[in-house]
Amino acid sequence: MSRLVVISNRVPVPDKKKAAPAGGLAVALRAALSERGGIWLGWSGNSSGDENPGDLSILEDGNITYALTDLTDRDVEEYYHGFANRVLWPICHYRLDLADYGRKEMTGYFRVNRFFAERLVPMLKPDDTIWVHDYHLIPLASELRQMGVKNRIGFFLHIPLPPADVLFAMPVHEEIIRALAHYDLVGFQTDHDLANFVGALEREGIGRSLGNGRLASFERRFRGGHYPIGIETAAFAGFAERAAHNSMVRRARDSMADRPLIIGVDRLDYSKGLTQRIDAYERFILENPRHQGNVTYLQVTPKSRSEVPEYEAMQRTVAEQAGRVNGALGTVDWVPIRYMNRSVARPVLAGLYRLARVGLVTPMRDGMNLVAKEYVAAQDGENPGVLVLSRFAGAAREMSGALLVNPYDIEGTANAIARAIDMPLDERKARWRQMMDHLLEHDVTRWCDDFLRDLTEEEQAGDHPEPV
Ligand code: ADP
Ligand code: G6P
Repeated sequence: MSRLVVISNRVPVPDKKKAAPAGGLAVALRAALSERGGIWLGWSGNSSGDENPGDLSILEDGNITYALTDLTDRDVEEYYHGFANRVLWPICHYRLDLADYGRKEMTGYFRVNRFFAERLVPMLKPDDTIWVHDYHLIPLASELRQMGVKNRIGFFLHIPLPPADVLFAMPVHEEIIRALAHYDLVGFQTDHDLANFVGALEREGIGRSLGNGRLASFERRFRGGHYPIGIETAAFAGFAERAAHNSMVRRARDSMADRPLIIGVDRLDYSKGLTQRIDAYERFILENPRHQGNVTYLQVTPKSRSEVPEYEAMQRTVAEQAGRVNGALGTVDWVPIRYMNRSVARPVLAGLYRLARVGLVTPMRDGMNLVAKEYVAAQDGENPGVLVLSRFAGAAREMSGALLVNPYDIEGTANAIARAIDMPLDERKARWRQMMDHLLEHDVTRWCDDFLRDLTEEEQAGDHPEPV
């Protein structure tokens, strides 16, 4: 087996003093890599100010070698806050209204991708398998190819890929698609995302499907596939079983005194549908007064990307909204919404999920949504809770036992919450079993194996994607 070299912008830098960063990519990749081992190159999360970032910092943790680079202030501003998080993120989440395109940011994005390629090349061996992750690094393969790298290079997009009409609103969409054609394999979360990609290729005649996952675009041949990401199902279920002894989980349980808990766990991001979710919960309480003073909603939401104006504005909006609902509905001995802007350790998170009768996962758009899967994995099979899940999360394509909702439909979501709270035990068990069996079979190791098998298999078939 060749050595695996992973590159992503965000890396969960091993630090015993800090909780791991929230975010699906870091959580899933660490789980996948800890078994297989390899090199993981990415951003340290630090800025070098105006100075050129110095040497890479190398950290060994188990069988993973982390190679971390600082970025300059300008890089962080243009590449990360600017193009990645104010152009690609909103557009891929169907939020054209929030996209703020600028040439300076776009140039910075390509410049920093070149910089990552320059940092990577000296570390590479000829038979390494290179796996690039997420929207920050789409142009990396084309930069590596220009530097003469001939290795197999795969790319996985953790976020949605929207249809052509949305994608093409981005002025540089053609460069982005051209960059993807430099990979050997491009992976998406769902068949919808893959179909959107093929649709985008075909719409302007810049590429086509050759069948069987084979694609041609910009005079290159490569492959596309869908690989729904999973979680460490068995390990997470183990955390949840043992969590009853954790003091934070015990405090939460004691404070509930057997009353039902609804849980939401998300980075503070506009794609997560937090304002609509709070509206739906408020409506559920108003329409089901017997639950006033009974049901509590706990929302655990670490702040995210706070330097980006849209995120900063959202932090205020959600905090005000939670405060307003608590003011309007709360009583001397009951707070309707417990709102926390904090990351918690994974075993604690698992324990909190297990306490909750309802997992409320209602993004307006999400590539996969690992929280939905974690909530299911953490349940007690003898008395499981109910997952209420947005139909616009990639996870909805797999979680057949969830109550699916349209998060734009506040009344519909409120009704689903009511149904979940009152669902009989037999139905809860049957729905949970279906989902848990799926999660056990399709865990993060399987996701990693499936992708890497397809990335390396082609090589054996002697079908190296060269210019046609
Ligand atoms: P995204 O990748 O957009 O953040 P996902 O639901 O796919 O959304 O992944 C989020 C990951 O971050 C999950 O693994 C989840 O457990 C973790 N996470 C989210 N919020 C918290 C939190 N408050 N504390 C700890 N981990 C969190
Ligand atoms: C999503 C993205 C990841 C990103 C994470 C957290 O999961 O797909 O690439 O790492 O959000 O966002 P951040 O900007 O903090 O890395």
